[in-house]
Amino acid sequence: MFKAIILLLLVLHADDKNVPKLKWVNDGVELTSTITQDTVSRGTTGTGDIDYNSTGVFVSADGKTITQRMDTKTTWENEWGSRLYLLNADGANYDLVFLKNKEVSFDVDMSALPCAINAALYTVEMPKEGSSKGAKYGTGYCDAQGSGSSGCNEMDLWEANSAATQLAVHSCSGGSCDTGGCNVNPYRVDTAFYGVGEKFTVDTSKVFTVVTQFLTDSSGALSEVRRSYIQNGKTFPTPPVTAGGTAYESITDPYCSATGAKSLAGMSASLEKGHVVVISLWASDDAGGMDWLDAGNSGPCKENDPQGARKQLVKAYPDALVKYSNLTVKAL
Ligand SMILES: *[C@@H]1O[C@H](CO)[C@@H](O)[C@H](O)[C@H]1NC(C)=O
Ligand SMILES: *[C@@H]1O[C@H](CO)[C@@H](O)[C@H](O)[C@H]1NC(C)=O
Repeated sequence: MFKAIILLLLVLHADDKNVPKLKWVNDGVELTSTITQDTVSRGTTGTGDIDYNSTGVFVSADGKTITQRMDTKTTWENEWGSRLYLLNADGANYDLVFLKNKEVSFDVDMSALPCAINAALYTVEMPKEGSSKGAKYGTGYCDAQGSGSSGCNEMDLWEANSAATQLAVHSCSGGSCDTGGCNVNPYRVDTAFYGVGEKFTVDTSKVFTVVTQFLTDSSGALSEVRRSYIQNGKTFPTPPVTAGGTAYESITDPYCSATGAKSLAGMSASLEKGHVVVISLWASDDAGGMDWLDAGNSGPCKENDPQGARKQLVKAYPDALVKYSNLTVKAL
């Protein structure tokens, strides 16, 4: 009897293998999703085979905070960052989010993330069952940088480090995707809006909340993507951007058109199908690879900085990490 119980406990323990599970809320339902890692960053091993301790991915004891480190100790080819998905409790499918008429919020700690590293929390229209080996193996990834049939709609809720941030809708239509996206980076209109220290409106040395709302028009089409930040109980809308003589407070079709981006129509249709959540921490192999996010007009970081290449970053900032908490998708 006791032997059986001990055996059972051992089996349960072995089955668990330290695989992190994240608690989050999807459309009012509290979910506990297994974190799975994509094939690119972990070779062919299944989720059950991953030594998560070496991947730099940790979930807090209450299940609500995920930490992702840049410097990892994996034996796979990449010893940096990771790209993660949320696997449904069924073990076979990714969880899907349906963002129309919803608000997505999360608390984020960017304080340990320097220039040239990109912490990205976004959604893509990838198949919920993954491809070939299945979602459990982190397969099926696609995004708006792909072309033809390999391109897919990508909604970048969060791409940021402690110095700069961008919100972007990458719509696809007629076999091509908007690689630049219809985007907003507050630095371009207010250099004191986002950054490290109390002089910034949003002080990235401390935790803050990122809120993104997906509004629709009377026909149910996506008409607006609206961003605000909450810190110390105060809400800060993203500063208005003037394009073609008009000030825009959010991403709308007129804004996309004024900035030369694709309309929201492709994203509107895509969101109907459901998107998979992606949590990715990465840096470019090359100097200047993250300048679009945080240098020149986009941020205060040094342009084309040789120290901004991945290998240098991992050496110079072995403790670089991002923490996301309280991920919530709820009805507007
Ligand atoms: C995971 O890493 C922590 C901290 O480095 C260590 O204390 C712990 O023993 C490791 N656990 C496993 C199962 O390797
Ligand atoms: C997550 O939400 C809880 C409950 O609202 C709050 O107490 C906690 O501070 C939040 N976590 C972070 C990191 O903001």
